[in-house]
Amino acid sequence: SSNNILKIRPPVVTIMGHVNHGKTSLLDCIRSTKIASKECGGITQHIGAYHVKIKDNVITFLDTPGHAAFTSMRLRGAKITDIIILVVAIDDGVKPQTIEAIQHSKAANVPIIVAINKIDKLEEGNLNQIKNELSKYDLLSEEWGGENIFVNVSAKKNIGIKNLLDAILLQSEILELKVKANGMAKGIVIESYLNKGKGPIATVLVKEGILNQGDIVVCGIEYGKIRNMRDEDGNTIFTASPSIPVEIIGLSGIPIAGDYFTVVKNEKKAREVALYRQSKFREIKLSRKKRLNLENLFD
Ligand code: GTP
Ligand code: MG
Repeated sequence: SSNNILKIRPPVVTIMGHVNHGKTSLLDCIRSTKIASKECGGITQHIGAYHVKIKDNVITFLDTPGHAAFTSMRLRGAKITDIIILVVAIDDGVKPQTIEAIQHSKAANVPIIVAINKIDKLEEGNLNQIKNELSKYDLLSEEWGGENIFVNVSAKKNIGIKNLLDAILLQSEILELKVKANGMAKGIVIESYLNKGKGPIATVLVKEGILNQGDIVVCGIEYGKIRNMRDEDGNTIFTASPSIPVEIIGLSGIPIAGDYFTVVKNEKKAREVALYRQSKFREIKLSRKKRLNLENLFD
C-alpha cells in the first residue's frame, strides 16, 4: 500500500436550481437512458446519489432534495462535487435559488453547466432574457464570449439529454480527475437514516482508496464494521471505488450528511476515536443540529 496508484475517477455532478425547474425530472430522464441501455432497472428513490454508465464512462449524480442535505453539502461537501448542473426552466427564468446555486458554485470553485430545461415550452419563455440575467453572474455561453456550456433540454420530452451528458464528459475530461485508487478508503456521507431492522444506514461517497465490505470505519462521531454494502439499486456489493456512492450498514449510530469517514486498522482504534469525539461533543454540549453547521470538524 506504499505505492499510490493514481486513476481517473468518475465526475461527481450535482444538479441544482430553483424549485420545480425540473431537477428530479432531468435525473429521471437520465436514469431511463440508463434503463434503455440495459445497465440497470430498479430505481430507489431514497438515495440522493447514483451512478450511470455511458459507454466507457461513469458519471455520478447527486440530486439536491431536502433542505438539510442541501445545506450540509453546501457547508462541508462542496468539495465532493466536481461539476454543477444549473437547471433553469425556460418558462420561469432566473429565480432566487438559481442565484443561490450560482453563488455556491462560485464559492466552491466548481464549474457550472447550464441546462435550460422545459425547452418544449420555448414559446412561453425568453431565452435571451435568461442568458442576459445569467451574464450578470458571469455565466456566459461560448457564443456570448464566455466559457460555460449551455444546453437546451426537455426532461419531459427527452430532448437534449445526450448533449448534456456529452457536456459533462467534456467538462470532466478538462478537470482531469485523478485520485488515489488503492489503499484504505476515505469519503463523505451524503445521506443517512435509521432502518428499524438493519440499524443506521449511510449513503457515502468514496473520495479515495477502495472501500470493502468488512472494513472498519470512523464516521463523524460514529464507528463500525461494514457488515453490508449496497449500490443504489439495492444490490449487495463488496467493493466501492472513488466517486461511487454506496449504502453502508454497520455503524454504531446515524452519522450526518457531510460527515467524513475514514477506514482504520482495527475496531479498538475506531471505537477509541469515536468515543473521544463523542465525549468532546458532550463537553461542548453541541447538538446534532448545530453540528450540521460546523465546517470540516473532523477533516
Ligand atoms: P424540486 O425538487 O421541488 O426543487 O423540483 P425539481 O426541480 O426537482 O422539479 P421536478 O422534476 O419535480 O419538476 C417540476 C415540474 O416540472 C413537474 O410537474 C414536471 O413534470 C415538470 N417538468 C419537468 N421537466 C419538464 C420539461 O422539460 N418540460 C415540461 N413541460 N415540464 C417539465
Ligand atoms: Mg426534485
